[in-house]
Amino acid sequence: MKTLVVFYSRSGTTKRVAQEVAKALNADVDEVIDKKSWKGILGFLIAGYDATKGKTTEIEFEKDPSGYDLVVIGTPVWNGRVTPAIRTYLLRNREKIKNVAFFCTCAGRPGKCLEQMEEILGRRPVLSKVLVRKRLEEGIKDLIEELETLNSLSS
Ligand SMILES: Cc1cc2nc3c(=O)[nH]c(=O)nc-3n(C[C@H](O)[C@H](O)[C@H](O)COP(=O)(O)O)c2cc1C
Repeated sequence: MKTLVVFYSRSGTTKRVAQEVAKALNADVDEVIDKKSWKGILGFLIAGYDATKGKTTEIEFEKDPSGYDLVVIGTPVWNGRVTPAIRTYLLRNREKIKNVAFFCTCAGRPGKCLEQMEEILGRRPVLSKVLVRKRLEEGIKDLIEELETLNSLSS
């Protein structure tokens, strides 16, 4: 199964998950770059506000998801919501994604993040998973196992 792992990460946690998942599944990776920096305390506050308001942002990414059997999409949770970068990515690629799996990383309160991702894409994911920062290793291992099971069922 040709798989693409797409992620946005502000401080590296989601990036780490995405890279480990991609390595284990032999998948391609695409980092979504948000042109807004969101750095510092002001960045943190605006990030939470924009996520809550369901704002989009200016993004860059490289790969065309339509060439893949499965697209795994990861985002940090911001104020119980999906990040503007992944919201924008989902809106822009709605027609191009066939099968999708979602994951989010958070401090323990995922809120409506995964439900929002499903709503925005307008499609049920084959898998959706919350990874809590304190138990990241365990979460990565479980996510990889679940994706490998899907992979073996489809081949
Ligand atoms: C603006 C902002 C809002 C956040 N809101 C939440 C939240 O509602 N619930 C939660 O559990 N963690 C929240 N967090 C923590 C992040 O989701 C968590 O640290 C995540 O793993 C960071 O991913 P990253 O390192 O890939 O950016 C928030 C972080 C930021 C910067």
